[in-house]
Amino acid sequence: MIRAMRPIIVAGNWKMHTTPDDAGELAARIGARTREAGVIRVLCPPFVCLAAVRDAVAAGATVGPDGGRVAVGAQDVHPQAAGAYTGAIAAPMLRGLAEWVIVGHSERRRDAGESDELVGRKAVAALGAGIRPILCVGEGFEVREAGRAEAHVAAQIRAAVEVLLAALPADALAPLVVAYEPIWAIGTGRTATGADAAAMAEAIRAAIRVAGLGAAADDVPVLYGGSVTSANVGEFLVEPAIDGVLVGGASLDPDQMSGIVARAALTAAARHAAGG
Ligand code: PGA
Repeated sequence: MIRAMRPIIVAGNWKMHTTPDDAGELAARIGARTREAGVIRVLCPPFVCLAAVRDAVAAGATVGPDGGRVAVGAQDVHPQAAGAYTGAIAAPMLRGLAEWVIVGHSERRRDAGESDELVGRKAVAALGAGIRPILCVGEGFEVREAGRAEAHVAAQIRAAVEVLLAALPADALAPLVVAYEPIWAIGTGRTATGADAAAMAEAIRAAIRVAGLGAAADDVPVLYGGSVTSANVGEFLVEPAIDGVLVGGASLDPDQMSGIVARAALTAAARHAAGG
């Protein structure tokens, strides 16, 4: 069977930056400078800025010549559809505001104590609402130093995918995207090597396969995240196992995003030529 090519994705995680007053303008500036064909662009602002970003990227100036639009993503979602959960946002509430959502970011695992099981339930909730989850995994520095990075990340993946497959049929997982973000590389200026990140991307697909998705695991896009900039993004995108990047700090800078998406478009064109 000939499998569809995996897409190239550049997602920006704005974390706790921007306000409803300035987020739209930033999104419009980034959108207008990242219109290359072949790259899925996703901007993930804080919840309160989702509407402003959605409206800003609806404008024609951010739409690519191939019709590609900037998609909007949230940074978290609650696993329940509704209930007495003060301060939380449920997946059905995101409909019309966000088409994507980050789940299991290491900052939430750290600050909100999120477990792999909870992260899996968040991904279930997202998929149930028609929202594409970007499921984040990654090891801390000590785990990498101890040579246990792949085992650690594989366990994170297995636990989340088992929750997903207990709740949903396998084909419902088709929209799933995984982001490999080594914790020691986030916001530190240090990055994994392209080769290490690619090896991890393969380990992630192997873990998804074993967890029950079988050959369809080969279709799951795996992104790299952690101190990605326009200067280093090529090291990751040159790796066939890596299908894009999840960008934090640099995603607030239109110059950086312009360079990152331009580089991603080269990869998309090269893979298209090789695959087609
Ligand atoms: P960074 O963050 O690019 O600022 O390291 C990445 C992330 O946390 O998603």
